[in-house]
Amino acid sequence: MTQPPTFVLFGATGDLARRMLFPSLYFLHMEGFLEEGQKIIGSSRSEYPDEEFREKMRPWIKERTGEYYDEATFNTFAERVSYVAVDASEPAHFARLRDALNDGQDEAVFYLSTSPSIFSAVCDALNEHGLSKAPNRIVVEKPIGHDLQSCIEINDTLASAFSEDRTYRIDHYLGKETVQNLIALRFANRIFEPLWSASSIDNVQITISETVGAEGRGGYYDAYGAIRDMVQNHMIQLLCLMAMEPPASLSADAIRNEKVKVLRSLAPITPANVQDKTVRGQYIEGHDSDGKSCLNYLDDVEATHSDTETYVAINAEIKNWRWAGVPFYLQTGKRMSERKTEIVVSFRPLPHSIFDSPASPNELVITLQPKEEIKLQIMNKRPGLIEGSMPLQELSLNLSLSDHLSAIGENRRRIAYEQLILDALRRNASLFVQRDEQEAAWRFIDGIVDSWDKRNMTPMPYKSGRDGPPGKHSLTERNGHSWYE
Ligand code: BG6
Repeated sequence: MTQPPTFVLFGATGDLARRMLFPSLYFLHMEGFLEEGQKIIGSSRSEYPDEEFREKMRPWIKERTGEYYDEATFNTFAERVSYVAVDASEPAHFARLRDALNDGQDEAVFYLSTSPSIFSAVCDALNEHGLSKAPNRIVVEKPIGHDLQSCIEINDTLASAFSEDRTYRIDHYLGKETVQNLIALRFANRIFEPLWSASSIDNVQITISETVGAEGRGGYYDAYGAIRDMVQNHMIQLLCLMAMEPPASLSADAIRNEKVKVLRSLAPITPANVQDKTVRGQYIEGHDSDGKSCLNYLDDVEATHSDTETYVAINAEIKNWRWAGVPFYLQTGKRMSERKTEIVVSFRPLPHSIFDSPASPNELVITLQPKEEIKLQIMNKRPGLIEGSMPLQELSLNLSLSDHLSAIGENRRRIAYEQLILDALRRNASLFVQRDEQEAAWRFIDGIVDSWDKRNMTPMPYKSGRDGPPGKHSLTERNGHSWYE
């Protein structure tokens, strides 16, 4: 029997490893997705004997997995885990890793849950120790760059050791069940495709609102802001999945090539139109939905001055045959009134109405978080006897995926990383971001950031607990639209 790939996690004591990666590996083990003999190696700078590291891991997993934590399951999981101390700046330490991988003979998936500043040292050392050879692969996390140039540099570093088909770039949104479901919704149902274009669709809105602020992440967040932290990756991925052409198959290349085409069709935002096409905001003091008072952004990031946006809205135009003239409004913000990820597809009004009562245009509302729900708003006759013209009312066809999951006993909400780790182990790259896609996304974002600088467009304040600055409405109203509420 061949040895299944070993999962090597650099940054094994970091926040992501504790909260997401080890708990995801535990769940994969619990559900039988890890193969017999499949090993996990945790790695970071500090020295720990294997046993001590396993004990360190126990409370992380216990806390995140809650009612699913089981002592016996943890013990069998822990048997898979060993620890190798590696300081990325010490190439000689990689010899230890090589030993742990059976003198480099075992297939390995290297997951870099570390700062990108050490990617280069890690890639060089893996190369020197013969650990970057096929079929070994590398998995990297955002932030991959701060702009196009730095993204290209990181990608060149990765490419110096791993070919593109062995480079897995994570956007954890793609691991979410509901985000994957967008592909099923669009391409496993006949009814949507004939309507899925500018002839029937008036505008599309994608909102990711969060109640959390930037507290505790000051340095990183203040250098990135909402546009780089959320739009460049998660929002752009949602936009691509909504707008792409039907791929020829579900293969990684087929899907990713269609996404790149969307990105290349995005109309650049320039200094001439940035004030009409974008809104920037920064939260100030306010109250959350429970009435608790919240600090302003500057206090949260311990700064005296900052022009970093915590809210951004963009009117993105996709210049191709399918979408010409249909605005895709994107908005995301921290410290908003509720946590919600939602996509709203608004259809065009009736070409001609035979009713006296107004008919609202149909809307398809896809809620991805926190509830998983798909609603189609449709017009109906208001029940009752008619005197005169037929009265109408809007009702919704409602599909609650959350209720369906509870009904079939699937109550556990999966961690997005479970699917992504499994795919990396199984060599399925369709839910990972390819280089072209990432660089095209940065090109679009750089255009916006550069235009903000040139036009001196600083963020408008909004109270914590509100849904962005009041000025956000002009973005949609300019085209006769309004934000879905
Ligand atoms: C991360 C961002 O990528 O996504 C965070 O860095 C953000 O700022 C998070 O809070 C949101 O992810 P989720 O899965 O909670 O919607």
